[in-house]
Amino acid sequence: MGERTEILTADKRGVARAAALLREGRLVAFPTETVYGLGADARNGDAVAGVFEAKGRPSFNPLIVHVATAEFAREIGVFPKGAEPFLEGGWPSGLTLVVPLRQPSPIASLVMAGQPTVALRVPVLPLARELLEAFGGPVAAPSANPSGRVSPTTAAHVGSGLEGRISAVLDGGQTPAGLESTIIGFQVDEPVVFREGAFPVREDLARLAPKAGVTAPGQLATHYAPLGRVRMNAESAETSEWHLGFGDVAGDVSLSSSGDLREAAAALFSRLHEADARGETQIAVAPIPDVGLGRAINDRLRRAAAPR
Ligand code: TXA
Ligand code: MG
Repeated sequence: MGERTEILTADKRGVARAAALLREGRLVAFPTETVYGLGADARNGDAVAGVFEAKGRPSFNPLIVHVATAEFAREIGVFPKGAEPFLEGGWPSGLTLVVPLRQPSPIASLVMAGQPTVALRVPVLPLARELLEAFGGPVAAPSANPSGRVSPTTAAHVGSGLEGRISAVLDGGQTPAGLESTIIGFQVDEPVVFREGAFPVREDLARLAPKAGVTAPGQLATHYAPLGRVRMNAESAETSEWHLGFGDVAGDVSLSSSGDLREAAAALFSRLHEADARGETQIAVAPIPDVGLGRAINDRLRRAAAPR
């Protein structure tokens, strides 16, 4: 926060600068054919945590991974047969597909918020493709707006919400669709529409039933919870518990021994998966300050700690 947000022009220099910043783990907003995304290197957990921090999100929602080609998308996800009809003429404009993540994966676990699936998108906007090619890796990006505000369709919209909170915005003018991507997932091979958007879908496709009080599609997906029971605010642990430390509380392993919330957010889901892999039935977690990213971490822990 408090950094100057660079406005980069839509030319070779601007694209090269945006790619260089992403490589450094910084946050760069960029246009797609739908809306502007707030991009971070999807392999860099700290950078991805920074996305949630900049947006001021009080909870973790899985993010869409943007790549330059469908071939690259297939290296990251395992595409069910039901996905093929969508991709026959190349990746269509404004479409995101949610597919199982290919393991082992270079994608930071925070991107999936602990889920076994990954949302993938190949933007068709030339400037977005140029940036993804110049960067050469996967870019995790939600819409580039503060939490609770509308998705930005110009660089000025991005600036009005995130100025001083992100390193740069690549200014590609107005986005053509002005509406978020359509998100389609699969139940075995059957396509299911998670969110309607820029890509028109056939009337006969199943739609995920809207649930009362649910606004974001991420909340529709079942949230990942470890198999073990979670106890929060644990300064110390019983011998039967696996203790996740933070700051001065060392624990068996620490989410961040320096008490850094970004580092803790980046480590959270992989530590919870690790608890499962180790067969831990009781997980104690050190107190996490309820500020900034700490609120999102505590939200996730509270859900895991709730009686099931
Ligand atoms: O047009 C768009 O889709 C823009 C551009 C930047 O790509 N992105 C965007 O991202 O609107 P966001 O984070 O605001 O919304 C993406 C939605 C989230 O609500 C999330 O729940 C859902 O995609 N999503 C991401 N990964 C998912 C997954 N593995 N399973 C289910 N839903 C997922
Ligand atoms: Mg959004």
